[in-house]
Amino acid sequence: MDNNFDVIVIGSGPGGYVCAIRSAQLGLKTACVESQKTLGGTCLNVGCIPSKSLLHSSEIYYKAEKEFNKLGIEAENIKLNLSKMMNNKNKSILTLTKGVEFLFKKNKITHLKGKGSIIDKNTVKVTDDSNKENNYKAKNIVIATGSVPTNLQGIKIDEKTVVSSTGALSFKEVPKELLVIGGGYIGLELSSVWQRLGSKVTVVEYLDQIIPGMDKDISTEFQKILSKQGINFKLGSKVTGINIIKNKAIVNFMDSKTKKEEKVECDKVLVAVGRKANIGNDLITMGIKLNKENKVKVSEKFETSIKNIYAIGDIINMGPMLAHKAEDEGIAVAEIIAGQAGNVNYDVIPAVIYTSPEVATVGKTEEQLKKENVKYKVGKFPFLANSRAKVNSETDGFVKIIADEKTDKVLGVSMISSLAGTMIAELALAMEFGASSEDIARTCHAHPTHSEAVKEAAMAVDKRPIHF
Ligand code: NAI
Repeated sequence: MDNNFDVIVIGSGPGGYVCAIRSAQLGLKTACVESQKTLGGTCLNVGCIPSKSLLHSSEIYYKAEKEFNKLGIEAENIKLNLSKMMNNKNKSILTLTKGVEFLFKKNKITHLKGKGSIIDKNTVKVTDDSNKENNYKAKNIVIATGSVPTNLQGIKIDEKTVVSSTGALSFKEVPKELLVIGGGYIGLELSSVWQRLGSKVTVVEYLDQIIPGMDKDISTEFQKILSKQGINFKLGSKVTGINIIKNKAIVNFMDSKTKKEEKVECDKVLVAVGRKANIGNDLITMGIKLNKENKVKVSEKFETSIKNIYAIGDIINMGPMLAHKAEDEGIAVAEIIAGQAGNVNYDVIPAVIYTSPEVATVGKTEEQLKKENVKYKVGKFPFLANSRAKVNSETDGFVKIIADEKTDKVLGVSMISSLAGTMIAELALAMEFGASSEDIARTCHAHPTHSEAVKEAAMAVDKRPIHF
């Protein structure tokens, strides 16, 4: 094999594999190094995809138990077969990781199997499972090694009783009591899965709101909805320690204001307190500059402090740790390497929590705009007043559009809806085109759809919603 490439991408997650495909499309001779057995990184193997499979299956199970009868569907003896549910999840992972393998072959990308490390600015060493080392030359190197879960000091994740998201995606039995540390994306999605399958779930969150960083309106309403579904919340609480006794965990935590201490005994503890950049020793040895949070510092063109070495995705100091952000960066950096004008607009990156209902946002929150002293107006529309949501018994949630007070340009949108994750794309597109709320209000939306709530929220910015 010829060991010289135009681009070597290290890591085959959504950032890395998309970058490899786009580079190959642009005629660059491309290789992608991956240390795991399958392609696709955290997202496909132990992240977005398996969690969405379990969210989907558990939601149907929950509906079959609690809602089918109301709809006139009489199903008897509904039983959970967890191992079958897990097999279905594993099959989905296999299909999608094989799909990436197929795309690599189709685009003539060399898949280098093993752990990649950068030796110098044009050399990547690949160490395979049997410790055999091979060096490969590249004109350009793209680091796309993603992130790993962060842990809490003094707490040991054994992936049996105390687990990270990886363990919580593969429990062999439904835990009777599950304690989740962290009310963020992972904490709430996996709380939903196990609560629907029968666990008693308690979420302990350090701050006084779930999903910190999201619009406060949304976070308050979202917590109410999840509480109604049966999830128990302990906000403003700090976990101080975990004792494992036999197969049980006793989790101690303290209310930050009252200093009152509490403990909960449970079968499993999920630690979901964020992720950190996956920085290999090679990057330290090479002297690649990191920021205060230990993420790789990159320029607008994704260049690290060393020429011809680029970085994208969770590992860099720009944008949120989201798969679709990494994908867009993968495309942009390939285009930049090929001499084109690749670019990512960090003002318009949607974010979705795939619970039921879903939560989706794009652009700024009210809290951010207040801090920036931007004058704005708000339009809100509840799904209680949307005919399709009413027919489907999906009336939880609302759409909130924030527009500039003077120019009416849309600055941010947040929503809670059964279809929020899909609906947010309309708003991202509108913002990408610099739309005003009036543009959205005057766009014909099909009836009866949940999307009409978007049009109504846009009309509400000008205080003229029709159905509310
Ligand atoms: P996160 O940053 O979303 O949430 C972590 C939560 O833990 C925060 O609310 C934080 O205040 C809390 N926390 C931190 N220390 C704590 C402590 N000592 N005690 C109690 N609470 C504490 O991180 P998460 O949920 O682990 O997700 C990691 C990354 O994965 C995120 O950056 C997220 O963007 C991404 N992700 C995205 C998903 C999606 O797009 N749907 C799904 C899952 C993960």
